[in-house]
Amino acid sequence: MKNKFLASAAMAVSMMAGSAYADGQLNLVCSTQQDWCEKMVAEFERETGIDVKAVRKSTGETLAQVRAEASNPKIDVWWGGTGDPHLQAAELGLSAQYDSPELGNLLGWASNMHDISGGRTAGIYAGALGFGYNTEIFAEKGLEPPACWSDLLDPSYEDEIQMSNPHSSGTAYTVLATMTQLLGEDEAFKYLASLGNNISSYTKSGSAPGKNVARGEAGIAIGFQHDMIKLAGEGFPIMIVSPCEGTGYEVGSVSIIEGAKNLENAQKWVDFALSAEGQEIGAKVKNYQVPSNSGAAMPKEAPDFASLKLIDYDFATYGSTDTRTKLLVRWDEEVGTN
Ligand code: F6P
Repeated sequence: MKNKFLASAAMAVSMMAGSAYADGQLNLVCSTQQDWCEKMVAEFERETGIDVKAVRKSTGETLAQVRAEASNPKIDVWWGGTGDPHLQAAELGLSAQYDSPELGNLLGWASNMHDISGGRTAGIYAGALGFGYNTEIFAEKGLEPPACWSDLLDPSYEDEIQMSNPHSSGTAYTVLATMTQLLGEDEAFKYLASLGNNISSYTKSGSAPGKNVARGEAGIAIGFQHDMIKLAGEGFPIMIVSPCEGTGYEVGSVSIIEGAKNLENAQKWVDFALSAEGQEIGAKVKNYQVPSNSGAAMPKEAPDFASLKLIDYDFATYGSTDTRTKLLVRWDEEVGTN
């Protein structure tokens, strides 16, 4: 009896020394949707025993926090959110270099983020921009569905459109960068200023316009297609459109913050987030981005990237401090938020 007790105590100690019951904490900011964040945290805690304190923040908002806390970082790892602000954090030395053993399993567009950032970030998913419109509002008001970016300027959509604010939201910054790449910078700002006439509200988070349109608070949302596919799958009357001129996309990324107090645990999170198993958690809570690990199952609901008209998004340029700052200053001067 005594021996049996000793044997099980010894086993408990050896499990605590290993990964299953590792001690410690992790301070995480998620820039994904809240439900995916919660599910990832629960699975990671179950696998590692690490206690995770997580909060959801938009991508631009998180970059601002990381910059403000540079001398005394409170965040260990930043998971999710569009890639451009992660690249900017890397350029500013605000994120730490890390070569996860999972890197070799990533698709080219995801390891590209690791290469351009000098090893300070890596891609976890991809998502394409588009619009979603509320079919009930359109039927009631007799509106024609939009097919192209240019259609969104139609005066019949006055106050019907919502998008997010590019300072706080990575989604809206992706819109800015996409229009600049599609039209050239001057034409893009003319377009965004006229679009402003039809915008009823610029939200803080990128997925909010889709949710507001789904609930009937506005007619059209500009945002990531996967967020609106999620809403359609939940039964909301929202139809998704991929713009006829072509569209931009994000490479959602993960970065360890330079000076992280819980560095080893942050590395474990990155390994988990880049693993096929970790990436398959998204679809379990109806998050339909394209996973970056070649071994992760592709959700059948995810937009088929091969059939979308995608621009050749220049991450190195649009993720640089110079370009991001310049576009945001111009946004304030020429578009603003009403
Ligand atoms: O699904 C949530 C999501 O659209 C991600 O794909 C994206 O990386 C993130 O939100 C961007 O959020 P925000 O625009 O609020 O920074």
